[in-house]
Amino acid sequence: MSITPTTPPETADPRLLGRRVKRISFSEAEIARRVAELGRDVTGFYGDGELLVLGLLKGSFIFLSDLVRQIRRPLQVDFLVAASYGDSTVSSGSVRLLYDPETELEGKHILLVEDIVDTGRTLNRLMDLLQARKPRSLEICALLHKHLTSELRYPTRFVGFDAPNEFLVGYGLDHAENFRHLPYIASLQ
Ligand code: IMP
Ligand code: MG
Repeated sequence: MSITPTTPPETADPRLLGRRVKRISFSEAEIARRVAELGRDVTGFYGDGELLVLGLLKGSFIFLSDLVRQIRRPLQVDFLVAASYGDSTVSSGSVRLLYDPETELEGKHILLVEDIVDTGRTLNRLMDLLQARKPRSLEICALLHKHLTSELRYPTRFVGFDAPNEFLVGYGLDHAENFRHLPYIASLQ
């Protein structure tokens, strides 16, 4: 009797550029369930006042589009594009805005949506910048949080999943701009 080796489905995924993934950390169904819960949490959190959901590009684009459709209250959407200065392999903590939202922030509830919190340095700088615009409230919603490495000075009010200390791709997260379109989140080999 011959045994046919089976290829795990993720290694056969044509979206992977021939790369292998170690494992699927969060499946499409798990993500959908958790995003629906987050939507309910966000809906319940805000009372009166205008809510502006601010997505940090590019990593948050899929998460944000799923999340806002699970929030059952009026809201507006805008985006931020931030760039770190200097060495791209080390997070220096200095950040400048390449795109600054047109929308007035003063007096609004701002929910900043990020794909993943690693060192937290990007968010520290952005939160400082946004706080200076005098919003009515300012909260963070992160899909993933690598708690081990974080130096974040602000609380993350809403977190989708605790992330393993591995490099993750998919559902908006990239490696050299690839793999953002995977419907699941995987750990790269
Ligand atoms: P921080 O300033 O160190 O928190 O950097 C957070 C940013 O680094 C995220 O918005 C991502 O763009 C990127 N990043 C951190 N960890 C990962 C990962 O595991 N996969 C993909 N991008 C990551
Ligand atoms: Mg990012």
